[in-house]
Amino acid sequence: MKLGIIGYGNMGSAFARALRKSAHITVYDISEDKRERAKKDRFALASDPYFLIKECDYLLLAVKPKDIGNLLSHIRDQIEDRVLISIAAGVEIAYLKEVAGGHQKVVRMMPNINVEVSRGAIAVCYAEGVSEEEREKIRETFSVCGNLYEIPESLFDSFTALAGSGPAFVFAFIDALAMAGVKEGFPYETALRVVLDTIEGSALMVKESGKSPDVLIKRVASPGGTTIEGLAYLERKGFRGTVIKCVEKTSEKAKRLKS
Ligand SMILES: NC(=O)c1ccc[n+]([C@@H]2O[C@H](COP(=O)([O-])OP(=O)(O)OC[C@H]3O[C@@H](n4cnc5c(N)ncnc54)[C@H](OP(=O)(O)O)[C@@H]3O)[C@@H](O)[C@H]2O)c1
Repeated sequence: MKLGIIGYGNMGSAFARALRKSAHITVYDISEDKRERAKKDRFALASDPYFLIKECDYLLLAVKPKDIGNLLSHIRDQIEDRVLISIAAGVEIAYLKEVAGGHQKVVRMMPNINVEVSRGAIAVCYAEGVSEEEREKIRETFSVCGNLYEIPESLFDSFTALAGSGPAFVFAFIDALAMAGVKEGFPYETALRVVLDTIEGSALMVKESGKSPDVLIKRVASPGGTTIEGLAYLERKGFRGTVIKCVEKTSEKAKRLKS
């Protein structure tokens, strides 16, 4: 795949690094600083979007949702039969097609930042105009970034909250646990290493044991023991309800981006 990445910020650069194994990449960013960074990272650089479009058959649009309309209205006359892949939160396929001048080869993706370490969770939805061959090419190329979930577009805002924003919630939990370790007397670096082992190991336990988290909780929390003290405190403070509300609020914000 000859892939042009437009926007070399957080997500564009994360994709570029992961996809270097499976695609020929050319990058363009409006900002001089980001272009310098892409050059330092040894990616082929386009001096303008038109040159990039000429070079590539797939275009990954990695600009902020507020910038996507402006970008597409500038390049729509050059797109021809290129496949457009947008990762913009809250921006629907119907809108993308419209601002791209009725272009039919449009793909909507919702990745998360973990694509940078090839462990992303990525939602995908195709417009009808994307052929089976092009879909297969996308699956093959993007599978180096993590797992792809082909879901209906109606679930994209929920996926955005759960997986797109999800890493930030997990990073906040990791930091909170590490700070708890500091309160208990560990240096932060040691506490962080312990927390990361605990989280990685716990995720692997859920994946590999085939048991659901509530079954595994019972294996750790013995009757009248120490763990149930902590769990009871979390429940009293509304831990699960807070997490559920957090995802709900995030999903609502993704929906509001459209209006
Ligand atoms: N960050 C995440 O974890 C995450 C997760 C899922 C989805 N996303 C989606 O990914 C997209 C990018 O997010 P991000 O966090 O990577 O944003 P970002 O760090 O701000 O990167 C966007 C880059 O695109 C540049 N840009 C703006 N307009 C442009 C144009 N017309 N042509 C070329 N470059 C242009 C921006 O330059 P300036 O800064 O000069 O404007 C910036 O360097 C968003 O639509 C977001 O919804 C992000």
